[in-house]
Amino acid sequence: MLELTPVAGALGAEVKGIDLCGPLDQSHHNALNEALQTYEVLFFRDQAMSPAQHVALANLFGSPQLHQAYPHVDGYPQLTILENDEANPSKIEKWHTDMTFRAKPPLGSILHGVVIPAKGGDTLFASMSAAYEGLSDKLQHFLGGLTAIHDFSYGFKESLEEPGGRERLAGMVLDNPPQEHPVIRTHPLSGKKGLFVNGLFTSAIKDMKPRESRALLDFLITHMESPEYSCRMDWRVNSVAFWDNRITQHRPINDYWPQHRKMQRITIDGDRPF
Ligand SMILES: [Fe+2]
Repeated sequence: MLELTPVAGALGAEVKGIDLCGPLDQSHHNALNEALQTYEVLFFRDQAMSPAQHVALANLFGSPQLHQAYPHVDGYPQLTILENDEANPSKIEKWHTDMTFRAKPPLGSILHGVVIPAKGGDTLFASMSAAYEGLSDKLQHFLGGLTAIHDFSYGFKESLEEPGGRERLAGMVLDNPPQEHPVIRTHPLSGKKGLFVNGLFTSAIKDMKPRESRALLDFLITHMESPEYSCRMDWRVNSVAFWDNRITQHRPINDYWPQHRKMQRITIDGDRPF
């Protein structure tokens, strides 16, 4: 049913042959789920999804998360608005996997382009299964026995240090104590192994000396940034990206300021990494 065109060597496919505006049923879920396991991030064009259709698509894969910290579409608390313009430049600049400071980080996100700058504003994605496969057997084996610490306060340290930041984020800090996750994660459906540390939220490797931990994390973060593990999404209005947060990282490119960019996103609940 789906027509899948790979966009790069490691991950990513453009998907045709499906109307995300629905109606969608179990057969659509099965086809998309299989494509997601193979390609790790899926791209769609010309999908003028309404908020209700966006929610219906996400519901096929699990429960949408609610984010109090972000504005949302009226009547749809699960549909987060990510908007940047002259007055509000984008601040996220690092490669990351979303919300690994949670015990159960998200399964994935479905991002819909609503207002797209004339140029710039692409998103990079990277395959953590390809990054893992790019390591030697020796290092794969060593990393397989390690656990990492993922910490909200580490990821948001700049915001916490802003005037009033500690007070503003006190609730989030309290609700999100540091979490431990395996350094190598097994995808629960495909069984693929992937590198599961990221430069935004991974603060340390457990049971290592600070210098060892820092050096190893720096190596792994530099390693996963190699271009051969990545692909790039050039957004148009009504483009959609659906990434598997269990086995990818992403990085926005902040090269469009002061142009206006508005995206709508639903993040789907995930399970505990193993
Ligand atoms: Fe993100």
